[in-house]
Amino acid sequence: MSVKIDNLLHETRRFPPTPEFAAQAVGTAQLYRDAAEDRLEFWADQARELVHWHKPFTKTLDWTNPPFAKWFEDGELNVAWNCLDRHVLAGNGDRVALHFEGEPGDSRDITYAELTAEVKRAANVLGRLGVNAGDRVAIYLPMIPEAVIAMLAVARIGAVHSVIFGGFSAESLRSRIDDANAVLVITADGGYRKGKASALKPAVDEALAGNNTTVRNVLVVKRTNGEVDWTERDLWWHDELASVDAEHEAVGFPAENPLFILYTSGTTGKPKGILHTSGGYLTQVAFTHKNVFDLHPETDVYWCTADVGWITGHSYVVYGPLANGATQVLFEGTPDTPHPGRWWEIVEKYKVSILYTAPTAIRTFMKLGRQIPQGFNLTSLRLLGSVGEPINPEAWMWYREVIGGNVAPVVDTWWQTETGAIMISALPGVTTTKPGSAQVPIPGIVIDVLDDEGNHVGRDNGGLLVVTEPWPSMLRGIWGDPERFKETYWEKFGSENPRYFAGDGARLDRDGEIWLLGRVDDVMNVSGHRLSTAEIESSLVAHPMTAEAAVVGAHDDTTGQAVVAFVIIKYSHLEESSHADLTAVLRAHVSQQIGAIARPRQIFIVSELPKTRSGKIIRRLLQDVAEGREIGDTTTLADTSVMTAIMSTLKQPP
Ligand code: WTA
Repeated sequence: MSVKIDNLLHETRRFPPTPEFAAQAVGTAQLYRDAAEDRLEFWADQARELVHWHKPFTKTLDWTNPPFAKWFEDGELNVAWNCLDRHVLAGNGDRVALHFEGEPGDSRDITYAELTAEVKRAANVLGRLGVNAGDRVAIYLPMIPEAVIAMLAVARIGAVHSVIFGGFSAESLRSRIDDANAVLVITADGGYRKGKASALKPAVDEALAGNNTTVRNVLVVKRTNGEVDWTERDLWWHDELASVDAEHEAVGFPAENPLFILYTSGTTGKPKGILHTSGGYLTQVAFTHKNVFDLHPETDVYWCTADVGWITGHSYVVYGPLANGATQVLFEGTPDTPHPGRWWEIVEKYKVSILYTAPTAIRTFMKLGRQIPQGFNLTSLRLLGSVGEPINPEAWMWYREVIGGNVAPVVDTWWQTETGAIMISALPGVTTTKPGSAQVPIPGIVIDVLDDEGNHVGRDNGGLLVVTEPWPSMLRGIWGDPERFKETYWEKFGSENPRYFAGDGARLDRDGEIWLLGRVDDVMNVSGHRLSTAEIESSLVAHPMTAEAAVVGAHDDTTGQAVVAFVIIKYSHLEESSHADLTAVLRAHVSQQIGAIARPRQIFIVSELPKTRSGKIIRRLLQDVAEGREIGDTTTLADTSVMTAIMSTLKQPP
């Protein structure tokens, strides 16, 4: 667990909403009362109010075969129509949907009418390429408007997108394309990162080389004008869009039609394809985006800094904001290029009023110093959100003071790829906020903290975070693996009364409010990105010179956790190369196999790993080493001298 509980328990600062903020807030205390009165009716009301139904639903929830839920089952909707056409038809076609800011400084405003027109054309291209409702389309793009257009075009025709973060390797791309049997890949020649054009298409070519039989075409967006190798299946996005009809009629699809698959790390080596469907998902992302961020679509400029390759980008760059008709910033680059004030320059330029980002970014800015944001006019900011990992009270306070000018409320939002939308958060016009706590379930969500036996822990106690009732945007399964879905999430406390086990530790404070404490399983959280220890371990042992490997997430002041690996090298290689060379090779190998985000911060070359008598690696002890602590209880070790051996062979970190 990555947060020091002692510090949290002493946190006494409280920030009630100001009367001015509360008076104009869209989310009021009435929402809690309505949800408490009749939870299902509450969600049905939200679904009717926030979503347009081609065919209205008559049933709210079918939970007769848990954990397989059906929400608004007999209703029909078109998710893309909800995000586009309806705003144009309501007379808001001229409203800016996207203020696109490219990394090299190019920018482009796209209105709802323009975005709708582009998506219609893209939908016609998909149709022409033979993509049908239900087919899977892989999207591997930088943060450019075409990423949003591609996702919505896929949704518009009732197909299923699988977005793969542009930082993932060819190997990760290949396994995701294969797992979903994608028929089409949408990519770009490249994107801009840290001041340079960086190619994307070669990774697609590499992923498809070999025995892929499902992908028929690759659509390529021209972004960097870089040289690209061309094959018969490749098509330029701009050529295709120019040559199709401009009109496209959006038809309704059943509420439980799959909308997307998004792969995320779990406790095993193989990423899980988390499946989300349409009606319930759109309802909850629209509801939370509106109420948690206090959205006033006519006047607010919203900016979520997440990449569309992650769930935060799906729910709070694409579907939530666009369903609500928001105006938002879409930024291709990184916070520090070409200068460390880039984000604040963007806030000033577009008068951003709502900012949603991750604690790791806030901590990085804290390190750089407040003089950088203070060089820009940030007075437009009136609400700040945080997501991805526990936010420590210091970072929370800095965010509020330095970025929010001591007035903007901070909402810390807890949720997951699996939950689809925000589950725990303050409502900024209602809740008195506490630095470091995500606080309360949003209206209509039921959360509990349980001990290992499934008993409620009570106030002032810690345990496991559990969602006790189904919710509209819940995952509907793991692609192709219903058994794993049941086992991983629903059977922790027995199968008679299935409750959703999130994998997070949590504590209830004296008021019964929730403090998140980090993962309790073998999932790490590095800069708000989920990584699995098992996945990195299997990548390390796949290298010919590795005999065995163990990976832990060690505390890191900036990134929350960092990947630290302990590796046993085969004897012959140890003789040939220095430790520094070996670790450099292995770090590059992990980066190439999974992606740069998974590259270990440190690799320790050791002669043995601590194991139980049944051969299970005791990561807890390695974590002690990685975090420079005194070694904990070693009595369960098969061979108690192992830790002494490890300590004596450790080299200083590179
Ligand atoms: C962690 C990201 C504490 C948590 C939306 C969860 C958080 C995992 C918070 C999901 C938060 C996310 N406070 N921890 N506000 N938000 N987490 O799937 O451990 O990338 O299980 O979804 O991030 O990560 P994922």
